[in-house]
Amino acid sequence: MAEGGKPMRLWGGRFEGGPADALTRLSVSVQFDWRLAPYDLLASRAHARVLHRAGLLSESELERMLAALDDLEGACRSGEFRPTVADEDVHTALERGLLERLGALGGKLRAGRSRNDQVATDLRLYLRDNVRYLVSRLVELETALIGQAEEHAATAAPGMTHLQHAQPVSFGHQLLAHVHAIARDVDRLRDWDRRAAVSPLGAGALAGSSLPLDPQAVAQELGFDSAAPNSMDAVADRDFAAEFLFCAALIGVHLSRLGEEIVLWASQEFRWIEMDDAYSTGSSIMPQKKNPDVAELARGKSGRLIGDLTALLTTLKGLPLTYNRDLQEDKEPVFDAVDTLLLVLPAVSGLVSTMRVNTARLEASAPDGFALATDLAELLVRKGVPFRDAHEAVGHLVVWCQVNDTTLDRLTEEDLAKISPHFAAGEKDGGDVPGPLEVLNVQGALAARKAYGGTAPDRVRDQITALREIVDGQAAWASGS
Ligand code: ARG
Repeated sequence: MAEGGKPMRLWGGRFEGGPADALTRLSVSVQFDWRLAPYDLLASRAHARVLHRAGLLSESELERMLAALDDLEGACRSGEFRPTVADEDVHTALERGLLERLGALGGKLRAGRSRNDQVATDLRLYLRDNVRYLVSRLVELETALIGQAEEHAATAAPGMTHLQHAQPVSFGHQLLAHVHAIARDVDRLRDWDRRAAVSPLGAGALAGSSLPLDPQAVAQELGFDSAAPNSMDAVADRDFAAEFLFCAALIGVHLSRLGEEIVLWASQEFRWIEMDDAYSTGSSIMPQKKNPDVAELARGKSGRLIGDLTALLTTLKGLPLTYNRDLQEDKEPVFDAVDTLLLVLPAVSGLVSTMRVNTARLEASAPDGFALATDLAELLVRKGVPFRDAHEAVGHLVVWCQVNDTTLDRLTEEDLAKISPHFAAGEKDGGDVPGPLEVLNVQGALAARKAYGGTAPDRVRDQITALREIVDGQAAWASGS
């Protein structure tokens, strides 16, 4: 930030002395709200046109105003115009830029608007733009996960509950579970966008303006669906920011769960995946180490995203209508959440798309922990045995396997017959019930779970087809088509 000259204030008229340094330092927000400058300029153009239509700017004044705004935008972009510590906030800095270019005419733009409706408008514009950008990054992560799922639709893996082997699943099915969570996040952001598409501009400080402005025309020009129907709500409402931060926090939570799984998968104990060198880190002391820092940071960053949401909700709680300076605290958590997600998502996408899945190890450990026990119990159910008795019989069988140091998939028909008559291969009450040895294999167990939503590789491939269509729609939304 540049050195400040004489402090630039938008409210000096009734004050005799200048503000104390301590107040200035407390009050200044330009060091973080400067990123709203392009949106403030957009809103200024729309406001200039409305002033012109209201007869408050002549044709030539409008032209000079718009030309100066264009010039100022170029200067902001090139860095030739920069805020200084003497500018209180982005609005103040840009008004200075306009005055430098237009002299007294620059002071006309403030008619009928206040920083209260301006800042609420700017933040909505900023977020609506960045949410689209964020959705593009989420689409990249979905695509990376779907790519791996496609390769591993038929790869059997140990499915877990309580982090204990439970039933075999398709590894692709497990990867897609994460895609569904992220797809809901995108859905939530799109839904958020509908509610955020309301323009506060025209609300002025809180009560609207006595000038003949046209908030609805301004709303339309700025790409909003409508203008705020209540000027007090327009300047006081930060639901859009809080709701965005909830969406961001939940994305953070989803990334933390994926991150935690990847940390486990990459561990020596699991060895389900090998991370690409480009997405893993080494140790400064242990030469052999390959650490999952990307996954750990994804997990860790959820803490600050939840913190951002908590910070804003706490600021909003108990605020009286309408604008209060507390609301200046809305921006840093929002910017932090956007920055954090834009930092984390590309790294996680890269980690996922480049990881190598240890298919042999996954398939070999899929039946571990007697994971086929449910299949055997369900087979007995198909033979007419009450599930309660089937559960009991298979439970005995598991103990027998433990005592005899064997596993379910290594049993013979003779072994089974010793445990319970229910397991006799020939005992079928219909033509289509398989024998016990037929269900005691992992691929059979996967294929049998073929109802909608199940882990059968064919259902996993159906899911991929459906998800690809959803993700294509999300990508199109993000790019504005
Ligand atoms: N920097 C302020 C904010 O972010 C702009 C609005 C200031 N309004 C005021 N009445 N002081 O909230």
